[in-house]
Amino acid sequence: MRAGYGRSVFEPLLPLVLGRDVSGEVAAVGTSVHSLSVGQEVFGALHPTAVRGTYTDYAVLSEEELAAKPASITHVEASAIPFAALTAWQDLLLCLWCGYRQRLLVIGGGGAVGFAAIQLGVAAGCYVTTTCGSNSVARMLESGAEQAVDYTAEDIEVAIKGKFDAVFDTIGLPETERTGINFLKRGGHYMTLQGEAAALTDRYGLVVGLPLATSILWKKQIQYRYSHGIEYWWTYMRADSDGLAEIRRLSEIGKLKMPVEKTFRGEDIPDRASEGCS
Ligand SMILES: NC(=O)c1ccc[n+]([C@@H]2O[C@H](COP(=O)([O-])OP(=O)(O)OC[C@H]3O[C@@H](n4cnc5c(N)ncnc54)[C@H](OP(=O)(O)O)[C@@H]3O)[C@@H](O)[C@H]2O)c1
Repeated sequence: MRAGYGRSVFEPLLPLVLGRDVSGEVAAVGTSVHSLSVGQEVFGALHPTAVRGTYTDYAVLSEEELAAKPASITHVEASAIPFAALTAWQDLLLCLWCGYRQRLLVIGGGGAVGFAAIQLGVAAGCYVTTTCGSNSVARMLESGAEQAVDYTAEDIEVAIKGKFDAVFDTIGLPETERTGINFLKRGGHYMTLQGEAAALTDRYGLVVGLPLATSILWKKQIQYRYSHGIEYWWTYMRADSDGLAEIRRLSEIGKLKMPVEKTFRGEDIPDRASEGCS
């Protein structure tokens, strides 16, 4: 977003406050809020299009964007979870059929969303296989993935055996899309985080970009249905109180964790953001 992602939506609304995840204490509530109270410890995430973000001392969120913070983890640990996990949750919602004993392939399990998807899939009873960098392999296996293939050292098309019920592609490059789709059984589901809606609306504006993105999605859906017999989806993060409740439950019992590599002060965010931290 600092570099201009989403400019078609955000440019008229500048200046923005960035930041999506939050963990903290409720300072005040509106009159219609019933599930939260002042002083309560909460965590959650704003919707992707929110204009007033969480890189602040005080943030404004709606009731359904928050849940009680898991008591067993710190605010720092809790603040690393919701946005990535809710994005992965949308994927699992889309593939509800990818439940107990189904095979799920997560492309890019080393990233925040991919790692959350592995843990949510394992908790749902899926057999999860993932691709990740060499430094992430041990973490993937510890989180319950059956196989973690190092995409920097191995040919994943050789290393991974068999077909999958669902593929969740957090990378969305042409080659990961091709590989992911070829790994699906007929009737399987491919989901990518790299839908073209944002890029096309940024390039052509909402009026042209959005219908263009929709037509590209429909074309791919029809094409893959006929060529491979699979369903093709773009998936996006959405605030979801049921999802957040499940994420809270799994975090509380240690089944959903996000490693925190480093912490930094609010005033250092501009420098750190350019290093890739969020
Ligand atoms: N559509 C949405 O609503 C939505 C929501 C959130 C994020 N996103 C997008 O989804 C992507 C992932 O987000 P994130 O927060 O998970 O990113 P992240 O934490 O920065 O993770 C990126 C990871 O991708 C892995 N990777 C890179 N190339 C790979 C490849 N060829 N094969 C397998 N793994 C590869 C690397 O893992 P290793 O360290 O293991 O090498 C890297 O750590 C980003 O592009 C983000 O913008 C979309």
